[in-house]
Amino acid sequence: MTSKDYSQNLPVRNHPIQNQPIQDLPIQDRLVLFGYGLFETIRVEEHGPTCLERHYQRMQQGTLRLGLDMPHFSDWQKLIHFYLDENPTPTPPYALRLTLSGGSSELPSRILFHTRTISYTPAHYAHGVGVNFLSAPRNEFSPLCSLKTTNYLENILAREVAQRAGFFEGLWCNTQGFLAEGTMSNLFFVQAGELHTPSLSCGCLPGTRRELVLELAASLGITVHEGKFTRSDVQQADEVFLTNALMGVMPVNQVGEIRFPVATETGSSLTHKLKKALLIALT
Ligand SMILES: Cc1ncc(COP(=O)(O)O)c(C=O)c1O
Repeated sequence: MTSKDYSQNLPVRNHPIQNQPIQDLPIQDRLVLFGYGLFETIRVEEHGPTCLERHYQRMQQGTLRLGLDMPHFSDWQKLIHFYLDENPTPTPPYALRLTLSGGSSELPSRILFHTRTISYTPAHYAHGVGVNFLSAPRNEFSPLCSLKTTNYLENILAREVAQRAGFFEGLWCNTQGFLAEGTMSNLFFVQAGELHTPSLSCGCLPGTRRELVLELAASLGITVHEGKFTRSDVQQADEVFLTNALMGVMPVNQVGEIRFPVATETGSSLTHKLKKALLIALT
């Protein structure tokens, strides 16, 4: 990323973080006023929350950029376990959303929690989902691309455009026309048995599952290319899939007008190989 580090102009505040889940956020908190804050959406399995270190590291990167304080990992982890132990939760797997508010010069940041069910169904995985290219570009120079901030309206509006056109997810290209990511997911495609994904500098959020899938692919001996790819690269691919923390690996059956056969669970597709490897890694 060549974008400016805006956090240099902001005071790093040393307020203690509120250690309790707080539902009533003061109106003066910059989360309420400006969407100034960070969040993580964590998949919770029967055995507990998954990939906590990766989620923590991404949030910590965000706090450096926004000039916010954050508890040490062990305290952050304790807060999560305390919340999950003390509150009713859906049947696993479910989603835990953790929000760090921006506070204000008078108010400490707060950590807010809530849980919800995960809406992806077995049919999504069996048949795959359709994605469409978005006409508005992703600004790869924006400081918001690489951070998971509570400023998500651009993503939500973009996904609504794709969904109104009958697609599950919208795909962004960046200002130079290279593929970036989905509005809520990272993009992968397979060409000639090799895995491809847009590099982070194309304007992607550093997804926790993107990172893990890249590690798993390397450990399985799959050749991986992180780079600059075009719409036609993905449309000519053999397989396409999306990743995020809640969906894991989701096969894609359509990119714009082009349809892709989704291999069966027993097939030898890289999508299924990586989906399986991810499931095993998270259990
Ligand atoms: C824009 C965007 N890209 C990528 C991702 C995937 O990130 P993760 O794998 O950590 O869920 C998300 C997740 O919500 C996202 O919103």
